Amino acid sequence: MIIKTSIHGQWSSRVAFILAATGSAVGLGNIWRFPYIAGENGGGAFVLVYLLCILLLGLPIMIAEIMLGRRGRQSPINTMLSLARDEGRSPLWGGIGWLGVVTGFFILSFYSVIAGWTLAYLFRAGGASFAGLDAEGVSALFTALISDPEKLLAWHTIFMIMTVMVVARGVQSGLEKAVKLLMPGLLVVLVLLVGYAAIEGNFWQGFAFMFRPDFASLTTNSILLAMGQAFFTLSLGMGAIMAYGSYLSSQASIVKTAAVVVSADTLVALLAGLAIFPIVFASALEPAQGPGLIFVTLPLAFAQMPGGTVFATLFFTLLVLAAWTSAISIMEPATAWLAENHEMDRAKAASIIGGVAWFLGIGSILSFSLWANYTFLGMTFFDTLDYLTSNILLPLGGFLIALFVGFKMKISSVQEELAMRQRWLFYVWYYLVRFVAPIAIALIFLRAVGLI
Ligand code: PFF
Repeated sequence: MIIKTSIHGQWSSRVAFILAATGSAVGLGNIWRFPYIAGENGGGAFVLVYLLCILLLGLPIMIAEIMLGRRGRQSPINTMLSLARDEGRSPLWGGIGWLGVVTGFFILSFYSVIAGWTLAYLFRAGGASFAGLDAEGVSALFTALISDPEKLLAWHTIFMIMTVMVVARGVQSGLEKAVKLLMPGLLVVLVLLVGYAAIEGNFWQGFAFMFRPDFASLTTNSILLAMGQAFFTLSLGMGAIMAYGSYLSSQASIVKTAAVVVSADTLVALLAGLAIFPIVFASALEPAQGPGLIFVTLPLAFAQMPGGTVFATLFFTLLVLAAWTSAISIMEPATAWLAENHEMDRAKAASIIGGVAWFLGIGSILSFSLWANYTFLGMTFFDTLDYLTSNILLPLGGFLIALFVGFKMKISSVQEELAMRQRWLFYVWYYLVRFVAPIAIALIFLRAVGLI
């Protein structure tokens, strides 16, 4: 049985879907996580592997996820269950949806904490707190924030409530408008920041750091991290894009849509890197300083540029909005499932999910202060959740999705849903999903655990 529309509604147009999916993809992953992980992994070679992962794994799996969502027209759990049934496969494939829901809880819990940092910084920017600070001053400001669990809890709580409020009302209303303003705004501000970095920063050193591959610095672990970052930044492997795909109209071209989303996401990440690294080198900061990277480098730039306060306020406003539109999508799969299966209204479903993720977030908050010394394999609670979700759970979800589409669905079902005119392009995509993606993910996993 093929359901034509989802009970949760439908995007008003293909453009609306592009906006929503871009809103999901572009977020803290691009502006906070990409520069700091690239910085910790030596730059160039990491960035190259990341770009390869985007192109060879991310884009094909995004097409697969949208296709599954649109064909199933329900929450990821029920979509996978019904597609498995339609294709005569085991209901165990519903596990992809379950895995996604669990992964979503983990991600949302720490994502909201970091989004809380951006909220805190928005208020600091507005209050001109960066004006005149030097590198030490901005570092001290950051340390003061993250070592204050009560403050972090307050910001985390506010951000989670903001997210629940939107998800409760349904993702379509409001989201389209928000993203329409956000995306162009973010691009303009980032380009201006790159311009500032080019004039005042050490631009070529930053550029070379990002684009000159030094393969000696590329470890097995950094390959795993580059793959994990590709999944995280594109919101893949946990059903978020699948859930959004289930609200897409049957006429829209999935391939073109996915290509636009992936290009926009990649552009934003690269611009963020180009804005940050020249400032890092010009101020003798450390590229490998970890999760605080943008919270130290960018305020330093704002502290010294003319009109810095206004510009900083604008930047952090946009970053909060970008984090918000992403967090909304992280919550969507579980909310849609609760609403479908437990006849719960969306407001109640979203509140329950937000509540559980909020509670889990406390562990991440404490990781920066009271629990900083409780580590597992050298990682704090926050590091562990971040590592586990991005580098293991999301690629695992992507691996299973690729196997299901590549081997468990009839090729005729896949062709029917994608309705691609160019046959050769279909086969390129099909080959990537069927062989390249699962084999590459499996090899990177096996190598990371030392089995090959
Ligand atoms: N892609 C988002 C970002 O880059 O910030 C994070 C994210 C959203 C991850 C949705 C996973 C997800 F399902």
